[in-house]
Amino acid sequence: MLVVISIGGSILAKDLKINAYETFISYANVLIKLSEKHKLVIVTGGGSVARDYIRLAREVGANEALCDYIGIDVTRLNAKILISALGCCAYPDIPLTYSEVKTALLSKDIVVMGGVSPGHSTDAVSALTAEYIDADLFLIATATNGIYSADPNVHSNAVKFDEISIKDLLNVINSIELKAGSKSPVDILAVKIIERCNLKTIVMDGSNPEVVMDTVIDELKEEENSKQKLLFGTRIRVE
Ligand code: UTP
Repeated sequence: MLVVISIGGSILAKDLKINAYETFISYANVLIKLSEKHKLVIVTGGGSVARDYIRLAREVGANEALCDYIGIDVTRLNAKILISALGCCAYPDIPLTYSEVKTALLSKDIVVMGGVSPGHSTDAVSALTAEYIDADLFLIATATNGIYSADPNVHSNAVKFDEISIKDLLNVINSIELKAGSKSPVDILAVKIIERCNLKTIVMDGSNPEVVMDTVIDELKEEENSKQKLLFGTRIRVE
């Protein structure tokens, strides 16, 4: 099966000063295991390092498109670190376009990439990649354990969804974006892509790579038990 996994920078490179290498190594080990049975494309986010550089760029007068390019550079740095951790199991180059992903997939290696173009996040890159390569599963490994009715960092009574429709997800995103300082759980462009190509998608807590691997394996099973309640995430339902 063909699987696209978006790993947030907030998971991979939360704080570069505190043993960040351990997360890259744990993810690499799990991805190598997973790649024995499945073809993988991994998209790495930029996290707080990207945000620090974007802020710095803004302070010196860069426009938003240039700031996006700086964010993309950081996502590709994280991709390079993951490629290094994967060693000979990784495709050596970072695809810079969606068609380069297809070419890279002709090899048996794990393909790792970062951002592609300004104006969106790596969630959208991953969704577009999944659409373009006809992936069987799209998983977003992020810093929260799924999608909530409101931003759980702001609203203590926010409720986690086990499953959410595209319509409800768009409502959640719209309500979250109205509040200053809060962050959308999934990029709106990614949601639109998921909807238009009917992509099987899960948003989940990416802090434990083993749990991410088990979730991928379980979701790709044909049997009914693959539809168990997701303790650490939310399924996006496309009608
Ligand atoms: P991320 O995808 O990391 O953004 O890209 P994020 O939403 O902050 O995700 P986390 O925190 O890693 O989970 C970092 C920035 O790079 C630019 C955007 O500015 C984005 O906010 N970017 C990234 C693009 O403009 N295009 C891309 O294709 C990817």
